[in-house]
Amino acid sequence: MTQQREFPNWNNLYQERQVETMPWYNLDLDADLEQALTKLQINSGTVLDLGTGPGTQAIALAKKGFRVTGTDISEAAIIQAESKAQAEGLDIIFKQDDIFNSNLNQEFDFVFDRGCFHVFHPDLRQDYVRIVHNLIQPTGYLFLKCFSHLETREEGPYRFTPEEIRKIFGDRFNVVSIKETVYQGTVNPLPKALFSILERI
Ligand SMILES: C[S@@+](CC[C@H](N)C(=O)[O-])C[C@H]1O[C@@H](n2cnc3c(N)ncnc32)[C@H](O)[C@@H]1O
Repeated sequence: MTQQREFPNWNNLYQERQVETMPWYNLDLDADLEQALTKLQINSGTVLDLGTGPGTQAIALAKKGFRVTGTDISEAAIIQAESKAQAEGLDIIFKQDDIFNSNLNQEFDFVFDRGCFHVFHPDLRQDYVRIVHNLIQPTGYLFLKCFSHLETREEGPYRFTPEEIRKIFGDRFNVVSIKETVYQGTVNPLPKALFSILERI
């Protein structure tokens, strides 16, 4: 049976703690996403950074020329991300939005989820797949980074095997690849992660 995991109140967390101290804080574009974009020759288009948090990934994508929307359930996170983007002169749409009660009504060329899906209770996973599928244009991609079953620390988000990812997403996405990798951030050693390339059917 999957162990039930606990998460903070996200808005309180972003009000109380400096984003730079958060385990997932990573100024650079996620290395696995960067490789995937190069391999698939994707260098323009619209992107949703889902669960954008500190906004580092949205900002890195905007610097590469993508038209970026960043959403997060935490308004405090969105306010901070927006002010960082403005300070860098970047035109990014940041919106407070709960993915399970979303006001997004656009199809993106791709969605990047770095650490959002793996905080959701297992009962919500099929809702997540359906909602995110509707936010991606046909043949667009979901790039998903989540914790791997190989990560042995007790605390933290849900973990996944490649087989579980195939089972959860396989009806609505073509599973292009799933690789064992790490979750870049402020934790030493870096947590073990899976990076999946999922093409919308
Ligand atoms: C592990 S953090 C990752 C943040 C960011 N993607 C990064 O890599 O720096 C997970 C994020 O998901 C957000 N989140 C949690 N539940 C959410 C929901 N229902 N809808 C949108 N965002 C959510 C949290 O506020 C948090 O910022």
